Amino acid sequence: MIEAKSVKKRYKKGGFFSKSCVYAIKDISVSIQRGENIGILGESGAGKSTLARILSLLEPPSSGAVFVDSKKITNRIDKTLRRKIGVIFQNPSGSLDPRIKILSALQEALKDKKDIDKIYEYCQIADVKKILLDRYPNQLSGGEQQRVAIARSLIADPDYIIFDEATSSLDVSTQARIMNMLVDLKSRKNYSYIFISHDLKLTTFIADRIYILYDGYVIEETDYLNIYTKPLHPYTKMLTGNDYIEYIEGDFTKNACPFYPFCRFRKKRCSENTPDLINIDSTHSARCFLYD
Ligand SMILES: Nc1ncnc2c1ncn2[C@@H]1O[C@H](COP(=O)(O)OP(=O)(O)OP(=O)(O)O)[C@@H](O)[C@H]1O
Ligand code: SF4
Ligand SMILES: [Mg+2]
Repeated sequence: MIEAKSVKKRYKKGGFFSKSCVYAIKDISVSIQRGENIGILGESGAGKSTLARILSLLEPPSSGAVFVDSKKITNRIDKTLRRKIGVIFQNPSGSLDPRIKILSALQEALKDKKDIDKIYEYCQIADVKKILLDRYPNQLSGGEQQRVAIARSLIADPDYIIFDEATSSLDVSTQARIMNMLVDLKSRKNYSYIFISHDLKLTTFIADRIYILYDGYVIEETDYLNIYTKPLHPYTKMLTGNDYIEYIEGDFTKNACPFYPFCRFRKKRCSENTPDLINIDSTHSARCFLYD
């Protein structure tokens, strides 16, 4: 299981001497069981990629803690633990070295560099044609590059794979092929997918359970069906077409609920405090005073 508990992430803002900072993540707790598919959904700037980097152990949180299989992650991350978590980012060309041919890029991910059969096996699984192995990344289409990135991630034999907007830059049919491939792959090996996106339909296609992020907070967590049939947070209602959004004039403090400027259901208390994530039942939580 991967767990992030009460994670916050702060970045420095401004020049070298500046003391001000920005919180990319204000309060996020998530857990991913082995074999489970999780969706992390949120608009631009919600903190999704920051969370992806923290969950894939590429960056430590500023506070809170991350656990992998109950082991607390410290500054010294052992290699075996890191190999358990694969990550695929939005821009595949950025993650492939333009000077290295595809075959060598895939070999880098192998424990046994000579195990070419394993490369062929995973190229077939990820639908990477053999002819591409002798090419440089810039000689591949975006879809081909992304399939190489997926093959490379699988070769490292991970238990968890994080997809951070991994199909967003691809056309709809390539996106559909990759999504179907992921479902097929899952039936071969018990991977856990952590699917990060701003696209509700794509996320609910693959995820069993979904976290909705807004302004650095988890504002709702539930299974994928509830998102459509029983959305609770006013933001989720808007996202699923059950409500609309508009800016509403009004004063609020810096501690206010992050959704306050757009919320039709807001009360005075919402202008002064950010609610905690409230457990509604065993499968559903929402960060909203309506459920207090
Ligand atoms: N290294 C950084 N330094 C300063 N601010 C950062 C840094 N990384 C992220 N941020 C800020 O943190 C917030 C969250 O960023 P993040 O990239 O995690 O959002 P996102 O949900 O992935 O957005 P998008 O959908 O556009 O990719 C943004 O306001 C962003 O500007
Ligand atoms: S806490 Fe208040 S402002 Fe925030 S979403 Fe709920 S009702 Fe709206
Ligand atoms: Mg992002």
